[in-house]
This record gives sequence, C-alpha cells and structure tokens, in this order.
Amino acid sequence: MKTPNKYLLLILTLGLITGCADDNERNYQYFPDMYQSQAYEAYAESELFPNQTTALKPAEGSVKRGWMPFEYADNEEGYQRAKKELENPVPYTEENLLKGEELYGYYCAICHGDKGNGKGWLVQQEKVLGVPSYDDVGRAITSGSTYYVIYHGRNLMGSYASQMNRKEMWQVTQYVMKLKRELEDKDELPFDKDTIKNKQLFSTSDKLELTN
Ligand code: HEC
Repeated sequence: MKTPNKYLLLILTLGLITGCADDNERNYQYFPDMYQSQAYEAYAESELFPNQTTALKPAEGSVKRGWMPFEYADNEEGYQRAKKELENPVPYTEENLLKGEELYGYYCAICHGDKGNGKGWLVQQEKVLGVPSYDDVGRAITSGSTYYVIYHGRNLMGSYASQMNRKEMWQVTQYVMKLKRELEDKDELPFDKDTIKNKQLFSTSDKLELTN
C-alpha cells in the first residue's frame, strides 16, 4: 500500500503544477533580458541610420541573385557587336531545341509565324507591320543578333527579358536559327555531342541562372 500512495502523491502534485497553466497565456520567463529584441518597423522613422528610417537601400552595386549584366548596350553599336561576336552558350541538344520551339510558340509565332517567315496571325490580321522573315538577306540575322533583339527588343518588337531567363532566350534563339536554316533550304545541323565542354563556358554565377 505504501508505494502506490507515493505515485499518487506525485501525480497529484504534477497535476497541481501543470493544471493551472493556461495555453492562451505566456509562460513565465526567467531573466528575459535577450528573449525579446526590440523590433523596429520597416520604413519607420528612426535615429538609427543617417537616412532617418529603419530600412536601408541595398549597397551600391548590389545585384539580384542570379542576375547577370548584359554587356551589349541598347544602341546600334551594341547591336552590331552582339551580331558579330555573341555566341550561343547553350549546347545544341534536342531537349534545348524542343524547349526553344515551345517558347517560340508562346511568344514569337503570333507575329513571326510558325515557320519564321514573318506571316504570323497578327500580321495576317494587319495588326503589326514590318515583321521580317528570318531569311531576310538584308538583315542576315545571327545567333548574337537574335539574342540581342529578344533581350532588348527592336522598334515595334518588345523586349522579352522580363518573361524569359537567359537560358530560355538562348533556347528560343536556337530555334529561330533552325527556322532560318529551313527557310534557306540548308541542311540541319547535328546536335552537340560534347555538351559538358560547352557547359564550361558558363561562369559559376551563370550556371545559377542558366539552370533555373
Ligand atoms: C508584336 C509582334 C512581334 C513579336 C511577338 C515578336 N516580334 Fe520579332 N520582330 C517584330 C518586328 C516588327 C520586327 C522588325 C523590327 C525592326 O527591325 O524594325 C522584328 C524583328 C525580329 C528579328 C530580326 C531583328 C534584326 O536583327 O533585324 C528577330 C530575330 C526577331 N524579331 C525574333 C523574335 C523572337 C525570337 C520573338 C519571340 C521571343 C519575337 N521576335 C517576337 C515583331 C515581333
């Protein structure tokens, strides 16, 4: 009889202690010095920083994670330079080409047409004028100029840099160049075998974005 009584007492004592705790009330804090820091509201007035508000602007020169500068300015000189020297860093594989075709269907075919001959639906409806065919001899587009035009836009054509990431824009470029070859009755290019070597063209930060 002696032992069960001991347990009973223990259970009763515990019940006494925990029973009074209210789930909706804060627990007691012992030495609460650093439990709760003094919080500042963002953009509230404050003496903390020289600009008198609690929120600070990002340090000068900060760039968004994964963002890469495009070193071809939005002007004729930038266009000509990109046309001449900018090359597609994305390996030419079936997967990339299919993705390019898909994106082309979403964004470009409405004006440029499924075949890239400049006779898309909007052109047929006479909503947009001056859409060139990709085999336009006078323009002689290259991978570099195509990427540049997708990135910056050109006259009536808007920029697509906010709709696609870099890899996607290069995939579309790949598909545009394929359409150009078809319009010119040229042979199709073989897919890249050495895709690893091509991938090394990207710097570490490029990879970050090009894989998303
Ligand atoms: C709203 C219609 C429209 C859409 C959509 C459009 N384009 Fe264009 N595109 C144009 C027009 C108009 C031009 C001629 C611009 C000029 O040189 O005046 C053009 C020109 C081009 C050129 C030739 C530029 C050069 O170097 O002369 C390429 C390449 C091109 N577009 C690719 C694309 C791709 C790729 C897409 C999809 C991401 C796209 N376009 C979406 C209207 C469009």
